Amino acid sequence: MWKNKNFNDSLLEWYDRQARALPWRVSPSSRREGVAPDPYRVWLSEVMLQQTTVATVHAYFDKFVTLWPTVDNLAAAPIDEVLTAWAGLGYYARARNLHKCAIAVSTEHGGRFPDTVEGLLALPGVGPYTAAAIAAIAFDHPAAVVDGNVERVMSRLFQIETPLPDSKPEIAAAAARLTPDTRPGDYAQAVMDLGATVCSPRNPACGVCPWLTPCQARRSGIAAQLPRKKPKPEKPTRQGRAYLALDGAGRVLLRRRPDKGLLGGMVGLPGGGWSADVPVELAPPFEAAWIDLDVEVRHTFTHFHLKLQIHGVLAGHAAPLTKEDLWTPRGEVMNTALPTLMKKALKLGLPALDHLITEQRRLG
Ligand code: ADE
Repeated sequence: MWKNKNFNDSLLEWYDRQARALPWRVSPSSRREGVAPDPYRVWLSEVMLQQTTVATVHAYFDKFVTLWPTVDNLAAAPIDEVLTAWAGLGYYARARNLHKCAIAVSTEHGGRFPDTVEGLLALPGVGPYTAAAIAAIAFDHPAAVVDGNVERVMSRLFQIETPLPDSKPEIAAAAARLTPDTRPGDYAQAVMDLGATVCSPRNPACGVCPWLTPCQARRSGIAAQLPRKKPKPEKPTRQGRAYLALDGAGRVLLRRRPDKGLLGGMVGLPGGGWSADVPVELAPPFEAAWIDLDVEVRHTFTHFHLKLQIHGVLAGHAAPLTKEDLWTPRGEVMNTALPTLMKKALKLGLPALDHLITEQRRLG
């Protein structure tokens, strides 16, 4: 019968050998030598990791800590620069909360992150997962950290066959039971690494798993089938529209969106129709002979699919229309910090507009 100590010893011994080297991580050997993790870097990486994969986070993390090496630096940065640095990670509300949180830590806590789960939970944008992750990784508190990787590992280890999300309480209880008082920070990262590199969703590498012997799902031959998941309701599809205007000097009209709503505060083509909580804005940015370019951009957000129609025009006038409008040379457009949706729209829309203009000229 495996005791908690057996679980922890085998996992930590595996982690000592196999820990991934990550730019925000203090390796187990450095930790042993007394190197303390920087809570700012732990927090920043955890917020980014909720958004995307470890591989993608590397470059964003490096960019952020180069631009803003401390939480006070990030707090002092203009929000526009933070949103620009975040562009491409998606879900901009998270970037706004990131900035708000930096300001709270800087102004209300003297630039030091609180070191308890309760204190961390009180910060803007910090939920139970992030609070537990920071408490464990940065401060070595025995907080149970449960992300998707840990859910998979626990479901298999204890053969929890109830589908997600109903199994969450049972998984959380199992994770809490196993969380040790010694090296809880390394332990939290070890379970996540195990889920990411060995206990993978489709083809778990059970042969090299430190928990091979006690794993119940492995013994039953159903490891790869767990965790079971309740079917998700289908995502709805929304229709949006974007306006692509090119002026005589070869410049494209970009517009900064209002702060509220999806892609709030980001620069892109004028248009809308994709935010359920914002009045639908389908009117063109100015009156002109807009033509449907007959291209449809498809993009999937967290809660819905979007089909974006693009309307285009070769515009005569080039003056800014509102202070949110930026006529941008087309050679620079793709180097602007644009959301992925807008990059897709320009990639498909610009050639279609060029084609239309050529045809119009040919026909006189
Ligand atoms: N996934 C999210 N946070 C992580 C961490 N700190 N280590 C490994 N994988 C993670």
